[in-house]
Amino acid sequence: MHNLLKDKVVLITGASSGIGKRTAIFFSQQGAKVIVTGRNQERLIETFNELQGDKHFSLCANLDSPDDIEQLIKSIVSEMGPLDGVVHCAGVQKTLPVKVLKETHFDEIFNANVKSAQFLAKSISRKGRFNPQGLSLIFLSSVAAVCGEPAISTYAASKAALQGLSKSLALELARLKIRVNCIAPGHVQTEMAKEFSQQLTSEQYRAIADKHPLGLGTPEDVAYAAAFLTSSMSRWVTGTTLYVDGGYSAH
Ligand SMILES: NC(=O)c1ccc[n+]([C@@H]2O[C@H](COP(=O)([O-])OP(=O)(O)OC[C@H]3O[C@@H](n4cnc5c(N)ncnc54)[C@H](OP(=O)(O)O)[C@@H]3O)[C@@H](O)[C@H]2O)c1
Repeated sequence: MHNLLKDKVVLITGASSGIGKRTAIFFSQQGAKVIVTGRNQERLIETFNELQGDKHFSLCANLDSPDDIEQLIKSIVSEMGPLDGVVHCAGVQKTLPVKVLKETHFDEIFNANVKSAQFLAKSISRKGRFNPQGLSLIFLSSVAAVCGEPAISTYAASKAALQGLSKSLALELARLKIRVNCIAPGHVQTEMAKEFSQQLTSEQYRAIADKHPLGLGTPEDVAYAAAFLTSSMSRWVTGTTLYVDGGYSAH
């Protein structure tokens, strides 16, 4: 498979790490012109240097802030032209039993995971910022949106919110040929997953691994699903969630 995304201009958030990083690299291998963003400049440059081909662009931004999002999208469009796709991988996960939860934790998780998605959708859907032939917007939800696990209730709520957000946006933005979908991964081995697993006993970790009939996932497994949802092969797909979870949510 080559050139699935030839010349598509695609913004990938959270590209300084994990799923976003591997998605950016895979998209570049498929011919996309990739814009990578994250907060950590050093790690973002590492991703940028691994992209295949040229005509890519890299810009740091904090997506907690709607003003920063607006500035980011303006800069991207003036440098690269209208967007064909956005894969919003940026997000935070915190293991927090409800008894220790503070308002600041809640705000941090919802700002990074939900507010960022809402205002990215607002910013990219302004005239001249998206390809009038179509744009694919993808949010990274999680199996946690539909399968409960202890000590991640705020994270789970934020990932469920993304599924609601994507459905209503899909209806509202269809007239602009903007498709909006979620990918809901199971446990994928990244920095985020490493931090999560360090807070578990080996029995608890094994129990989670055992709930994945096809085993744990890799960032590439998610990148392949994102490539399908960004490509024209999914042109009739909007308002849905693709579970990429090795069977976790089939239980
Ligand atoms: N890994 C899993 O098992 C798993 C499972 C289900 C869903 N997901 C979801 O998949 C997405 C990617 O996860 P991952 O495992 O790749 O995580 P990761 O390795 O921790 O990477 C998270 C990325 O998000 C960026 N980010 C966080 N807050 C940000 C903010 N306020 N503004 C801008 N960028 C921000 C980080 O940037 P900096 O590091 O530069 O700050 C980093 O690039 C997340 O939405 C996560 O919830 C992951």
